[in-house]
Amino acid sequence: MGFQQYKFGAAGIGLMFGFSMCITLLFPANDFRSGISTWVGLDKQLSLGRVIGFSYEDPFVTGAGKPIVVILDKDPKTGAIIDPPQRAYVYNPGIKFAPGINHQEMLGAGVEDLSKSIGKIDQSDMASGAVFTLEKGEFNGDEVDYIVNASVVRGWTPAGTLKAAGDENTRYVAKGKTIFVTEGCWWCHTLLPEQTQDWQFFGAPPYLGDFNGEMPTAFGSDRKAPDLLHVASRNSSREWMTMHFFNPRLVQPNSIMPRYDYLWGKTDAKGNTIDMNKWRAEYNAYVHGESIYPPEVPEPRRDSEVRTLIDWVLTSLR
Ligand code: HEC
Repeated sequence: MGFQQYKFGAAGIGLMFGFSMCITLLFPANDFRSGISTWVGLDKQLSLGRVIGFSYEDPFVTGAGKPIVVILDKDPKTGAIIDPPQRAYVYNPGIKFAPGINHQEMLGAGVEDLSKSIGKIDQSDMASGAVFTLEKGEFNGDEVDYIVNASVVRGWTPAGTLKAAGDENTRYVAKGKTIFVTEGCWWCHTLLPEQTQDWQFFGAPPYLGDFNGEMPTAFGSDRKAPDLLHVASRNSSREWMTMHFFNPRLVQPNSIMPRYDYLWGKTDAKGNTIDMNKWRAEYNAYVHGESIYPPEVPEPRRDSEVRTLIDWVLTSLR
């Protein structure tokens, strides 16, 4: 083969690669529609926002510019008690809305209708931000979940809603899922229970409508570790998760899962520097039977990456 053909081949591959990169970068989750959005699908897209993976909006996949989930036990405007507590999705001014808010037809029949007629989501304005909630309604005799723009319908402002929730009831779910993606947790864990034997332990498989507008879905393709789709239903302990992420061997002696202690950052919740060398020395003494208890795991800072990862695991993987 002459050199000319190689040149054509190289150019062709370059073009194809360039074109597919353009699709990835410019058209993230705009139009991924499938079935009628379920509660899970709506919860996922509202808590994750427009896009979680690699895109021109967040080219270094830092998890910036995402909405914040809060669990409200009182009305941010009137102060009335909300029982049982309700999730709300807070979009500060300028944060990109979830795909279903901008492309309402992708919510699916019924969900779209109610979200517009009762939920007023077509009155949402990205520049001034908004707070969304989910409600149950009926459409042609079927029960559907739909989105409510609580800023229009109930007068909830993003700032007022965050204040009413307080740090206790705030969950940085979107940033947490970003960390699942960037840390490569999907290399070992799936988010897709497969086949009947699986379902008995890992729980029900997802529905089609659980994925409307989610990007990326992060099903995973290969499993070296338990499926995580419903892990918080098996184990909802924040303390266990904290120990397990710091060093899985603290709670599962033969675990092959890596340590994620670097997600704590340099300091703990009280602002003290985390002395990893001291920690390791004490841990090794414990492993070799020289002390009875392992060292205490540092309490994560509010703005640490591990806090967001645990928020996502415990809030979204139920
Ligand atoms: C090298 C493979 C590997 C990687 C990478 C990995 N894990 Fe694991 N993970 C495991 C194994 C094996 C277990 C089961 C033993 C254990 O609990 O440590 C596990 C257990 C878990 C559990 C408890 C599951 C249950 O059913 O109780 C959670 C939650 C978890 N991992 C989350 C994560 C997250 C989040 C990440 C990324 C930050 C991650 N894992 C990365 C291998 C891995």
